[in-house]
Amino acid sequence: MSEHPGLEGRVALVTGASRGIGRAIALRLAAHGVALAVTASARSREGLRETCALIERAGGRAVLLVTDLAEEQARAGLVAQAAAQLGPVDIVVNNAATITAYAPPGKIDLPARRGMFEVNFQAPVDLIQQALPGMRTRGWGRILNISSEMAQQPPIPYPGPAKFVHALTLYGASKAALDRYTLGLAAELQGSGVQANALAPYKIARSESAEAVARQAALAHPDWVEPVEMMAEAAYLLIAGTLSGLVVKSREVLQMMQAPLHALDGWTVIGDATTLADFSAD
Ligand SMILES: NC(=O)c1ccc[n+]([C@@H]2O[C@H](COP(=O)([O-])OP(=O)(O)OC[C@H]3O[C@@H](n4cnc5c(N)ncnc54)[C@H](OP(=O)(O)O)[C@@H]3O)[C@@H](O)[C@H]2O)c1
Repeated sequence: MSEHPGLEGRVALVTGASRGIGRAIALRLAAHGVALAVTASARSREGLRETCALIERAGGRAVLLVTDLAEEQARAGLVAQAAAQLGPVDIVVNNAATITAYAPPGKIDLPARRGMFEVNFQAPVDLIQQALPGMRTRGWGRILNISSEMAQQPPIPYPGPAKFVHALTLYGASKAALDRYTLGLAAELQGSGVQANALAPYKIARSESAEAVARQAALAHPDWVEPVEMMAEAAYLLIAGTLSGLVVKSREVLQMMQAPLHALDGWTVIGDATTLADFSAD
């Protein structure tokens, strides 16, 4: 099925896999023989069905688990549910995230702060802690947390409206927390066979929800925008590889590993680390 074997028979849980980067990563892992449990909230039931259909059409195996990650009780049994259907979970990709609160940092209220951290930080940590005991026992596991360049304060002056940068402060803070947690976790897991990394797009990945931003950014900074295949490639390389404790950008992974960029079939070469999103065919 793939020119890069190594993950056949593994089981992965990918959150936020109803569209965008999560779907791309799920499809890419499936192309390498990984069985997929894909999750999103009930808002995205149709999208999840479509992800499963795409995986099955390509010869893979997938189940969907509808769960609102904002709800502590709802997410409590997620890894066990995946395992009940597919077998022990070897790979957790914490991709789901929310940017619901666009208020500036001086005004953002407590419910909004709690809501953002619940989905972007607490849920990933809970899912990791559900999966870790089994991973440790089996001596193999992969944790990939999807982050954002917004974890860092953008350089000054930022080439965009200040209110946009301010509005993304809380989102960035939740991703910074996830990055820091990833590094501490990787240190804890050293020598266990379980690896933890955080991966972000270089700047903007052309997912459905980032499409408008991607188009606008591409006018002035075409190098900012990458296809979702770039994140899927980097995710695959980290999961199939042996590195741990990285907080890294998609293109850096391809460069470090001198890897080409493949389509989501894991086979067709479509570019390299410098490949940018193509709007011309739209
Ligand atoms: N696209 C970019 O340019 C970009 C840049 C930097 C970082 N990222 C990161 O990359 C990841 C994916 O980005 P994307 O653009 O593909 O995002 P997206 O299109 O908005 O998809 C987000 C996914 O997460 C799910 N999700 C959100 N809240 C949820 C909740 N409470 N419970 C369960 N599922 C939930 C969504 O499904 P629902 O319909 O259920 O909400 C959806 O499946 C995110 O972590 C994002 O922060 C993206």
